[in-house]
Amino acid sequence: MAMITRADLASLDRADPLRDLRGRFSLPEGVIYLDGNSLGALPVATPARVADVVRLEWGTGLIRSWNDAGWIDMPARIAGKIGQLVGAPEGSVMTGDSTSVNLFKLLGAALSLRPERRVILSERSNFPTDLYIAEGLAALLARGHRLRLVDAGELPGAIDDETAVVMLTHVNYHTGAMFDMAAITRAAHAAGAVMLWDLAHSAGAVPVDLAGCDADLAVGCGYKFLNGGPGAPAFLYIAGRLQGDLRLPLTGWLGHAAPFAFEPGYRPAPGIARAMVGTPPMLSLAALEVGVDIALQVPMADIRTKSVRQSSLFIELVEQECAGLGLRLVSPRDATMRGSQVSLAHAAAYPVMQALIARGVIGDFRAPDVLRFGITPLYLGYAELWDAVAVLRDVLAGEAWREARFSARQKVT
Ligand SMILES: Cc1ncc(COP(=O)(O)O)c(C=O)c1O
Repeated sequence: MAMITRADLASLDRADPLRDLRGRFSLPEGVIYLDGNSLGALPVATPARVADVVRLEWGTGLIRSWNDAGWIDMPARIAGKIGQLVGAPEGSVMTGDSTSVNLFKLLGAALSLRPERRVILSERSNFPTDLYIAEGLAALLARGHRLRLVDAGELPGAIDDETAVVMLTHVNYHTGAMFDMAAITRAAHAAGAVMLWDLAHSAGAVPVDLAGCDADLAVGCGYKFLNGGPGAPAFLYIAGRLQGDLRLPLTGWLGHAAPFAFEPGYRPAPGIARAMVGTPPMLSLAALEVGVDIALQVPMADIRTKSVRQSSLFIELVEQECAGLGLRLVSPRDATMRGSQVSLAHAAAYPVMQALIARGVIGDFRAPDVLRFGITPLYLGYAELWDAVAVLRDVLAGEAWREARFSARQKVT
């Protein structure tokens, strides 16, 4: 096979239909950002938008802005936009809370839909918060619910008639492996179970068709591929056919049918509005909307095409340039089974990543031995892939990572 050259990649940049979107993001000079799967980049328009909300809507409008600036309708408005990215019809998505809290809400609701069943089925390598939330909920209910963990390869076969809910992350945070959403959802339904998807690494990254797959419930994250900012509000999805009956375990005043009637008893709002809990965070929502609006500029299919091409090229480049340097591909080689990241194992992954970051190539480390590189087509160029792999080769071949300072563990890895 012909060697890939930097010139090849530069020519892909020139022909890239998404190239102009890079200008919508504010990225520092000298940085190749491969961590948009953890924290998306800052859109150029975000600071001014947030400043307007602070100075004008809050500073001048004060409490009037809940009505005059449309604050109260913002969670549903942004949710409608996110819905377009994940195949969810109007009225089936709500923004707010964190992914973890939304998981609690929907898992609780899912269990109440199958009162005679006790098993929450998930995958052993699912993101820990999903598993911790399930454990906590089972303990709180104290009715014999349990979390059953299986390996990804055992699915969908492990779904049985004891399974109340199948709770899976569509794209695995560690490996980037992607489940077949339609097939697993079908299997869950065939066994009489509720299907709950975590789209943290999918929304804005890969095409998702929640309604087309007949998914029941889903949660997702605003600060990764949606570029909503650190700790951005998350979102949740409830299929329209379930909304009428669904009782969510966090029954706050903004999910009430008449929040400003101040009734002493809870009555759920009709439809998706019942998924709201407390007062939504306006500054964070304003930032989130800017990020979501950029993702809506191009069809998800175009984002996916570039993502597949970039991640496949990244793998080929690593194999071409870093052979014999101790790396092992962890992500699926088959692009149809991979989300928008490439994970590589290395025995010294932590200091290697620190050495990369010191040279401006920002990815992250996931214990015990994974270097994670997020592929974000909205702002990542092809030639940057070449430059990142060149730095990786240098760091490994020259063993720069052995410097003691790169082994000092920080709180966030
Ligand atoms: C798959 C998955 N689910 C949930 C979360 C956590 O979300 P939050 O911190 O918003 O609760 C993450 C964070 O990276 C994640 O990767």
